[in-house]
Amino acid sequence: MFKSKISGIGMYVPEKIYDNEYMTTIVDTDDEWITRRTGIKQRHVSAPDEYTTDMAAKAAENAIRNAGMTAADIDLILASTVTPDYYTPSCACVVQGAIGAVNAAALDVNAACSSFISDLIIADQFIKSGMYKNILIICADALTKATDYKDRATCVLFGDAAGAVIVSASNDCGGLIASEMGADGTGAMSITQLAYREDKEETEKRVSGRKETVWMAGQSVMKFAVKAMADSSDRVLQKAGLTYDDIALIIPHQANYRIVDSALNRMEIDRNKVFLHLENYGNTSSSCIPVALAELSELGRIKRGDKLLLTAFGGGLTWAACILEY
Ligand code: UT7
Repeated sequence: MFKSKISGIGMYVPEKIYDNEYMTTIVDTDDEWITRRTGIKQRHVSAPDEYTTDMAAKAAENAIRNAGMTAADIDLILASTVTPDYYTPSCACVVQGAIGAVNAAALDVNAACSSFISDLIIADQFIKSGMYKNILIICADALTKATDYKDRATCVLFGDAAGAVIVSASNDCGGLIASEMGADGTGAMSITQLAYREDKEETEKRVSGRKETVWMAGQSVMKFAVKAMADSSDRVLQKAGLTYDDIALIIPHQANYRIVDSALNRMEIDRNKVFLHLENYGNTSSSCIPVALAELSELGRIKRGDKLLLTAFGGGLTWAACILEY
């Protein structure tokens, strides 16, 4: 049976930056509050005419180049975003057309910030079954376009980015050693972006009144996140018959430094094994883990054979974790 090998990684972030100083000109906040409560120092912001699929296509092309492939080698595209250009066509289809992946089937998967790991788990099933050989996973979000810049509790958190990996069928790697994904729909309304359904109460929660912006119950999401990331990490380690000592690096979803820190306290792990970049990007939803992988690969901080623990939580509420032999 084939295993899933990461054969290419790519990323893209827009040039423009809103640092904490700039945020103080938009809402009543300061660098000290944002840094202490979140760990974020700056976030990248897409241009007014730059959308999710534009960023997604750039990250995808970088991943294909990194793999030494052409777009025609891709046989499936799984894309994830919570800020789609359109409901239809999917982000995956727009990117398929843009990059010329003429042999690829294309569809979107939405597990919010947990999507990258969920995509990996789905891709792994297709690799194991032999149905597809080279699957392009893209996570991209133009979250600053869905940010309520009148709400100081959320607007300091989000940034824009895209990350992509190619998962290829292989016989010479450990692949996805263990994984799990889960959901708790009783917490569905803890993080919301509204679509067609008329919901006066939800709309009124938005300080700006703009339906399409992100609203969340920060405190309760934090509590869920700490437990979900720590417990799912423990479970995938147990499934794999490994301990934290066997893990080369943990890459958690980068929403808030305090969430990661509290989860790490429960996991009792050496903090040098944790990769964080949220200081530079803020919360970029499901893009953050593939962007982290691209940075780590570029820095030479991950090598073939390393066991990586990925763990995330997100709207839905959802969570996902896996151990991947790089
Ligand atoms: O990936 C998507 C999942 N979402 C998340 O990961 C978000 C999870 N939640 C969080 O990260 C945190 O809950 C926040 C960063 C959103 C907020 O931090 P908190 O420690 O939970 O703060 P809080 O909401 O309890 O607010 C504490 C105080 C309040 O003032 P009072 O009522 O104590 O006077 C807020 O009004 O901080 C105030 N506050 C701010 N002050 C300065 C809220 N936002 C700001 C701000 N600047 N930007």
